[in-house]
Amino acid sequence: ADEPLILGIETSCDETGIGIVRGHTLLANTIASSMDEHARFGGVVPEVASRAHLEAMTPTVEAALAAAGLRFADIDAVAVTAGPGLAGALLVGVAAAKAYALGLGVPLYGVNHLAAHVAVDELEHGPLPKPCIALLVSGGHSSLLLVPDVTGDVISLGSTVDDAAGEAFDKVARVLGLPFPGGPHIDRAARDGSGTAIAFPRGKLDDGTLDFSFSGLKTAVARWVEAREAAGQGVHVPDVAASFQEAVVDVLTRKALQACRKYGVGDLLIGGGVAANSRLRALAQERCDAAGVRLRVPRPGLCTDNGAMVAALGSDLVAAGVEPSSLQIPADSSLPV
Ligand code: KG4
Ligand code: ZN
Repeated sequence: ADEPLILGIETSCDETGIGIVRGHTLLANTIASSMDEHARFGGVVPEVASRAHLEAMTPTVEAALAAAGLRFADIDAVAVTAGPGLAGALLVGVAAAKAYALGLGVPLYGVNHLAAHVAVDELEHGPLPKPCIALLVSGGHSSLLLVPDVTGDVISLGSTVDDAAGEAFDKVARVLGLPFPGGPHIDRAARDGSGTAIAFPRGKLDDGTLDFSFSGLKTAVARWVEAREAAGQGVHVPDVAASFQEAVVDVLTRKALQACRKYGVGDLLIGGGVAANSRLRALAQERCDAAGVRLRVPRPGLCTDNGAMVAALGSDLVAAGVEPSSLQIPADSSLPV
């Protein structure tokens, strides 16, 4: 109970996420999403997201404090996503975090969004193994990271050269007439289909790198659907969804295990919104078991963007004695890991 109480603020995309943690204990994880406002545009509109963050910030912080039965005065440090993400959206969170830190007289920690996606798993499964390999897959990023220590330098081993995995899910969903964001809809549709019905391409599968490519796959699915429709043949959505999904998770899991082997690391963590995918979780478990690698995947609610992940990393930084950030810290939309 003597560990410091950390308030975490996440505004890198469309979620205003406020988390409160003490050590690795999650006390509140409150989210206001502007996704409904973006859905009709088929993607997140930065200006709309920024404005929504501004309106949601105070009520969401107050809701998180109320959920945890705490007051402002209980907070010992504020952590905020400093990047990467949408510039205007990040600015709202960073400005709010500075105001709270200054007003409360507590230290401020600007954190990396990708590292926070890794650290969040500690709230569910305890301290991270050091080192671990992390596969982060979301609408904005698809990366393989070597994480010697989440409070220090995180090394990028590979990333997508075009679309992020979640972006591919969202674009293919649109081709199939499923709502945005499409990932969960494809996941659901795929349960009634066969992953081997259609042989879609696996980009960069055996190219010797740990990079990904999903835009060729997305195009292949669109062409396949167009050709079927032009020929007057029906499209069995569950089979297309399952076969597309299989192509994505086949490459993701193979490359993640290649990274484990190459760096001699026995622990793999999967995070980001796409880690909520049921087939990814199942295939990763199967392949990790076969390779003798321990797998950690946070529950779906912690995989998608949230404030608890930021608070979790902030808590680790405080515990590690890392210097707080200056109140001049910028929001950096292209912050590297
Ligand atoms: O991490 P996240 O909430 O936000 C970003 O930082 O992008 O990830 C959102 C992405 C979206 O592309 C969404 O379609 C995808 O994660 N996603 C899924 C599933 N749930 C969310 N993709 C595949 N299967 C799912 N079950
Ligand atoms: Zn994210």
